Amino acid sequence: MATAAGSRKWDLDGHEIVCYVMGHGALLLGHSNAEVVAAIQEQAGRFLHAGASNELECEWAEAVVALVPSAEQVCFTSSGTEACMLALRLARAATGRPRIAKLAGHFHGWGGQVAFGTDPPFNGPDTAGIPPALQADVVVIPAEAEAVREVLADGDVAALILEASGAACGMVPLPAGFLEEVRRLTLESGTVLIFDEVVSGFRWSPGGVQQVVGVQPDLTALGKILAGGMPGGAVCGRADLLGALALSRGDPRRVTHPGTHNAHPVAAAAGIVTLRQVASGEAQDSAARLAAELRRELSAVLDRCGVAGRAYGESSTFHLLLGHEGEPESLPLSELKAGLGPLLSSELHCGMLLGGVQLFHGSGFVSTAHCERDLGQTVEAFAATVPVLQAEGLL
Ligand SMILES: Cc1ncc(COP(=O)(O)O)c(C=O)c1O
Repeated sequence: MATAAGSRKWDLDGHEIVCYVMGHGALLLGHSNAEVVAAIQEQAGRFLHAGASNELECEWAEAVVALVPSAEQVCFTSSGTEACMLALRLARAATGRPRIAKLAGHFHGWGGQVAFGTDPPFNGPDTAGIPPALQADVVVIPAEAEAVREVLADGDVAALILEASGAACGMVPLPAGFLEEVRRLTLESGTVLIFDEVVSGFRWSPGGVQQVVGVQPDLTALGKILAGGMPGGAVCGRADLLGALALSRGDPRRVTHPGTHNAHPVAAAAGIVTLRQVASGEAQDSAARLAAELRRELSAVLDRCGVAGRAYGESSTFHLLLGHEGEPESLPLSELKAGLGPLLSSELHCGMLLGGVQLFHGSGFVSTAHCERDLGQTVEAFAATVPVLQAEGLL
């Protein structure tokens, strides 16, 4: 890509594209939001890295505490992956337990401790390069209360980590009441409950999914919108757990997380003005309204073409389910998480690009910068693409 502004970007050949990748979900306010860019430029002119704490870091942390219901304290990292890694380390340190439980299909970045069971068949490492010894301390379970109860029963699990929105930002919705139940079970067993809100944080509401459902985790991993399109992440949550980071050298309970770019000043500058713009909830509401309209219109295209499936999702996201009848909740995890399959997915992607629209693996993030014109172009591109996919025998 050459440039981007608002809901659109332009490639090196000059094609104009309606973007639903939106910085992999980081850009709730659209590309190159004027206030964010100005804050970055101003801070870059002041200093890039002063090698010491600065006021921006405190202001950024105060914004997180003000917005995220469970946040008593905050510690910044350089990415969402690192936030998940740090949350797990804090949980292991506090409980003295080695094991981690995670849910099948849920993604928590590329860190070795959680790179298991993300994709079908959900029973092994997600990548080459993971030593078998690491797997011994990670148990992957289905998103079912009974499975959680069973795995926590022995009292040797340090943390249960999950995407609070459901796997892949709601592509695989969680069962109703599940978060309430895991909160109860983790409290009973002394297990640290970690919500990964790297995507859902500040998007589902100013306080993320936890604000919407009213369930407070012990720790929350944040990223993406937190840093307004710059690299950044954070762990927030219970002060007694985060307090391990502030213990003196030599204290065996001390948790360390050295990192050159933790709380990077330029990311802090972008994050502060982003969080200011999303604090009232109006930004989330307006993006969510547009996404709901887009989901309805994309589903209507499928109906008109006689193709089973629909566009679904929550908040300002959408996911395309093609070739399946019924609600996503009624489908097995392996089918939902397998997505559209490689051929259909790439043909759909190319078809939409021909219409000047970029999807994100059959899904998308809507921002406050999107408008009716973008939606119209998207629906038109979809209506032109679906018959081609049908003619190719892919639908
Ligand atoms: C739910 C979730 N957790 C963690 C991560 C990792 O964040 P990052 O890419 O900033 O390392 C991602 C990234 O997409 C994510 O979607």
